[in-house]
Amino acid sequence: MTRDRLYRIMQPEAPGRAARTLRGVHHAIVALGIGILLADTEAQMRQAYDTGLDVAFHFVCLFFAAEYAARLVAAPSAPGEHRPAWRSRLAWALSLGGVFDLLGALPGLLDIQFGRGYASLFGFVWVFKLIRYSPGLTSLRRVISDARHALLSVLLGFGIVLLAAASLAYLAERHAQPQAFGSIPAALWWAIATLTTTGYGDVVPHTLMGRMLAGVVMVSGILVFALWAGILASGYAEETRRRAFLRTWDLVAKVPFFHNVGAAVIAEVTRLLRPRDFPARAFIIRRGEPGDCMYFIVSGEVEVRLRPEARRLTAGDFFGEMALLSGAPRSASIVAVTPCTLLSLDIVHFRELLGRQPELARAIREEARRRESADAQARRREPAGLRRTDQPVPTASEASDS
Ligand code: CMP
Repeated sequence: MTRDRLYRIMQPEAPGRAARTLRGVHHAIVALGIGILLADTEAQMRQAYDTGLDVAFHFVCLFFAAEYAARLVAAPSAPGEHRPAWRSRLAWALSLGGVFDLLGALPGLLDIQFGRGYASLFGFVWVFKLIRYSPGLTSLRRVISDARHALLSVLLGFGIVLLAAASLAYLAERHAQPQAFGSIPAALWWAIATLTTTGYGDVVPHTLMGRMLAGVVMVSGILVFALWAGILASGYAEETRRRAFLRTWDLVAKVPFFHNVGAAVIAEVTRLLRPRDFPARAFIIRRGEPGDCMYFIVSGEVEVRLRPEARRLTAGDFFGEMALLSGAPRSASIVAVTPCTLLSLDIVHFRELLGRQPELARAIREEARRRESADAQARRREPAGLRRTDQPVPTASEASDS
């Protein structure tokens, strides 16, 4: 196996059977490792299955050590790596992923030095190996990183309120309860339990001033957490929008119709288009219905049911523009022949785009005119007896059914 292929199949979202099998085995071994960790702390289990647990533990350690070695070997094949191989490997070993993978090999190393009883207690580090495979946790990391300034400001506010609360509680309560509030560090325990709204109740203020202060601190605690939740929620919404934008951008870039337009136009078009997936045989457009959007084909094939003969459109083509331009009902039904990924442009955005991008507008209008005259010619050529334009063309399967 080449180093490039090894690198590819170890990527979290790599397609292909080998990559999927490797992921399945990896996750099963993480689960096995966690199972061993839990079983090892149960005296009865340890007594009953000591040898089995021992063998399984060594197997898990060996697997993660091999994974670390394989990732280290494959590191120079990362996209954009032009450094000498040893430097790429060092950079990977020092990266977050590399450090977590080294931690995954830690129980095996501890086992060599101190034996399994001690080493298996560190098996909890294996659960961190799943982070790489969870897009949700990757998003969370990005959300926290993007919102770090706002989150740190709230944290600073939290610290200020905490210290002020402990100092005031010390002033109010130090004579009434010298044990619990005899110093500001001692009062901090009460302040943190109150500000986080945990309220253990082991230390409570006795004086009137102390109780009034407690009320203010509790409300402040709720406000602080509401702020944190708000920052994270808007960060998540932003991240979801960003991911959707990137996916649409990727799809737009695949449509040849947009190949010759600049990045600024692609960015504008991406904002207006919505990706949509259709299964094979789904009706995308029905003849005679009012037009509300047009489509660009990213992948797959559709059939335009025209008389006398149907037409096929594939990746890069567009359809549904005629009804939007003329205001007339849909001129033909369109059915997905294979599973399709399309980009839809609704009528409001269609008008906006035509107004702002004259080049695209001209290309779409010209194609609509060409199709219209081709359809008119085809209708004229059709024998009068067959001219029932309200009927869609039957598909091959419909024709054979009837
Ligand atoms: P619209 O009339 O909105 O809905 C049906 C669509 O079929 C139409 O827009 C065109 O996009 C498409 N269409 C009509 N005639 C042809 C043709 N001759 N070749 C390819 N596509 C067509």
